[in-house]
Amino acid sequence: MRITLTEAIWRLKSGEVIAVPTETVYGLAACLDQPEAIEKIFSIKGRPKINPLIIHIAHQEHIQNYTSGHPPYFQELTKAFWPGPLTCILPIIPHTIPSIARAGLPTGGFRVPSLELTRQLIESTGPLVMPSANLSGKPSSTCPEHIEEDFGIDFPVLDGGMCSKGLESTILFFTEGRWAIVRLGALPPQAFEPILGYIPVFLEKGKNDIPLSPGQLFRHYAPKANLLLEVDGGAPYILGFEEREYPNDKTVVLLGSLFNPAQVAQRLYETLRYLDQIKATKVWVDMNFPHDGLWETIRERLLRASKH
Ligand code: TXA
Ligand code: MG
Repeated sequence: MRITLTEAIWRLKSGEVIAVPTETVYGLAACLDQPEAIEKIFSIKGRPKINPLIIHIAHQEHIQNYTSGHPPYFQELTKAFWPGPLTCILPIIPHTIPSIARAGLPTGGFRVPSLELTRQLIESTGPLVMPSANLSGKPSSTCPEHIEEDFGIDFPVLDGGMCSKGLESTILFFTEGRWAIVRLGALPPQAFEPILGYIPVFLEKGKNDIPLSPGQLFRHYAPKANLLLEVDGGAPYILGFEEREYPNDKTVVLLGSLFNPAQVAQRLYETLRYLDQIKATKVWVDMNFPHDGLWETIRERLLRASKH
């Protein structure tokens, strides 16, 4: 059910959970000051309580309400990438963020979304916590139709059309004197080099093998179809690229062009969801694409989506 901005504000302020667009993916939103609504997010999504939520603020200055003494280059990073698809994990001032939102951790993940409609909303409601608006484990939602698929046609959605990035924010965490990427996302690692003087490494686990971003523990982005990454002549479906030729006894579903990773990214989750619509069972994925920029995120998402 599509709702207006005014209705979205009203529903959030009265403690409801609604779906909200951002430039990355749609989020399931609740007001940060409504712990019961935050609880509801976890039950609606079927999300484990140990997986913390990202806190979305309307302006960079609002971060001062929750954190102090930022890591080196924090100002430069946010100046370059906020508003936008960057999430920074920061130590918080105790008691400023409800424990349920941060899964009991002493840190919070913060971002300022760049979609104007989202920031207008947050200006009226105050900070919103939003995980991606999908059932836990499924591909994220990049348009209102995906939310209707997962949560039913009566679920309230603020309509922002199709998300422009189509991949979640890149998450940075400062550890052992350097910024590291704890989730690959819509900003490629190379984007940070001009600011930091180095390309942050993708670090899934910290000391004692503990994941730095708890979400990395769980199964993700997966359609019902079985995605095969090794060449498999028996798979009746192929997920591939416009420029390539594939055996003509197969049904080919296109990821897009090898020359346009931004478009492949924007449509990735839609394409994975489409495989379920056509009831594809066994799909061979053409993983022969470049190893740089956004392709790294696309590869990581396909890898995760293939794990059953
Ligand atoms: O683009 C995005 O980031 C989207 C839109 C809606 O903003 N949100 C999103 O949320 O992707 P979600 O919940 O699907 O993924 C959030 C990730 C999880 O892997 C979670 O573990 C991690 O962020 N995270 C959140 N707070 C954290 C914290 N304090 N420490 C470490 N990881 C954190
Ligand atoms: Mg998610």
